[in-house]
Amino acid sequence: MKQQAAYITTPIYYVNDKPHIGHAYTTTICDVWARAMRACGRDVHFLTGTDEHGSKVEKSAGERGVSPQELADENAAEFRSVMQLFNLTNDDFIRTTEQRHETQVAKLIEKLAEQDDIYLGEFEGWYDEGQEEYHTETKAKELEYKSPISGKPLVRATETNYYFRLSRYQEKLEKFYAENPEFVRPEARRNEVLGRLREGLQDVPITRTNFTWGIPFPGDDQHVIYVWIDALMNYATALGMADPDNSDKSRYWPATYHVIGKEILWFHAVIWPALLMALELPQPRCVYAHSFWISEGKKMSKSLGNFVDLAAIQEYIGTSGLDALRYFLVTQGPLGATDADFSRSQFQETYTTDLVNTVGNCASRTSAMIGKYCSGACPADTGECAGGRIEWPEFTASQVDASIAAMENLDLAGAVEAAMAIVRKVDAFINDTAPFKLAKDPANAESVGNILYRCAEAIRIAAALLEAVMPEQMTALRAAWNLGGPSGDLRKECEWGGLEAGTAIEKVALFPRVELD
Ligand code: MSP
Repeated sequence: MKQQAAYITTPIYYVNDKPHIGHAYTTTICDVWARAMRACGRDVHFLTGTDEHGSKVEKSAGERGVSPQELADENAAEFRSVMQLFNLTNDDFIRTTEQRHETQVAKLIEKLAEQDDIYLGEFEGWYDEGQEEYHTETKAKELEYKSPISGKPLVRATETNYYFRLSRYQEKLEKFYAENPEFVRPEARRNEVLGRLREGLQDVPITRTNFTWGIPFPGDDQHVIYVWIDALMNYATALGMADPDNSDKSRYWPATYHVIGKEILWFHAVIWPALLMALELPQPRCVYAHSFWISEGKKMSKSLGNFVDLAAIQEYIGTSGLDALRYFLVTQGPLGATDADFSRSQFQETYTTDLVNTVGNCASRTSAMIGKYCSGACPADTGECAGGRIEWPEFTASQVDASIAAMENLDLAGAVEAAMAIVRKVDAFINDTAPFKLAKDPANAESVGNILYRCAEAIRIAAALLEAVMPEQMTALRAAWNLGGPSGDLRKECEWGGLEAGTAIEKVALFPRVELD
């Protein structure tokens, strides 16, 4: 059977800053989805990378006394090392200074110019130097003429530049939005875009002349291509969409999800679709704009110096393990329309309640009892009713459906919750049926075996569903319980009865109790 292709992307990160929890978050979200979809048998392409051009990089490099390329090489390496730290399974890592990207960007721009989507014109507007972004008069006023990111004043700037005829796509975009209610999610973000779209679109400059660190504009090397246009195109160039000799990855087009932070929504929700319309390329299925992590109740900023940075991330991983951090990001993170607080106490509480006391405890109790009462071999379920045989297959089947559906829909917390409900039910089932008491009388051996089979089988299923979020410990559980590797058909793997009687079940201790400082 031909596998259904899926394509998920993160923003490509600026190389003038150090990686922090925000970057790790978006990339982890995409990793979880990519792993889960692969587990369901889909042919997934997961892309991340670095955005390396623009005046900010040129400036930072100047300040450091290195060339922009050196700065880019250094920080791109740092971003890659974060990938390793997080055990991320990206299929590609694109850098915008790579030849494959630059050549294709030039080609795409040439096509736009040939069909008169680009013209040379004069522009005056309010410019945010830090963000390299112009604002309309209305927006600038709303922002009190200050950058919403750095707080620095917006500057009045005039430039002769090449323009993209964004205004041409006003109606087409409105129609597209009307026909595709799920194009931008969450809904609050979609409404913001629609509101701004209604104000009317102006053509946008897509080149710069005040610095040189960028891709030269084809046919006029006085200009370099504006970093945002160059950057957006990474999603296409990484698949070789403008490289006829290298198009084996074009089957992944268009993206299932472009996952981004809310601050870069306009580029992805308006400029990018308009560029794709002009280039006659199919539109992504969804641009998903999540909200922000704040840190201990405060916005993370350079002035406060309160970034959850690489060192802090390493410390969390060191004490509680990578899976704990991934679980926290996924279940407590700002995937919805509101910001989320990265706090030590919340981290500790989530870890202890869900992972130590629930998942870890259930798996260790079950495997310890199988060790003690069944000599470590998975008992058979003979069907004798001990606290409900019938409801388990039905209950787990509906949780599996709910979990996979939520995952496909990028509702990661919902997917986890559906799996955790299985684990919590096992916990309650052990308490209700008390196999440790029954086991005192040898006459109950069959009942005890039946109960423990149901516990182990339910945990096996929940673990398969949780594996995309917590690959390390769920893989460890597979090994200790001799469950084999993932089959590539998660739904089938999660059918009740997959665990065979007689399987050697080793005792596991998955999530040790720890106290953070
Ligand atoms: N280079 C552009 C993106 C170009 S995409 C074609 C850029 N880079 S960035 O380095 O600033 O990364 C921004 C992204 O990092 C956000 O959109 C978001 O995915 C992630 N985050 C940065 N800070 C964040 C938080 N505080 N919380 C959550 N994610 C955040 O913009």
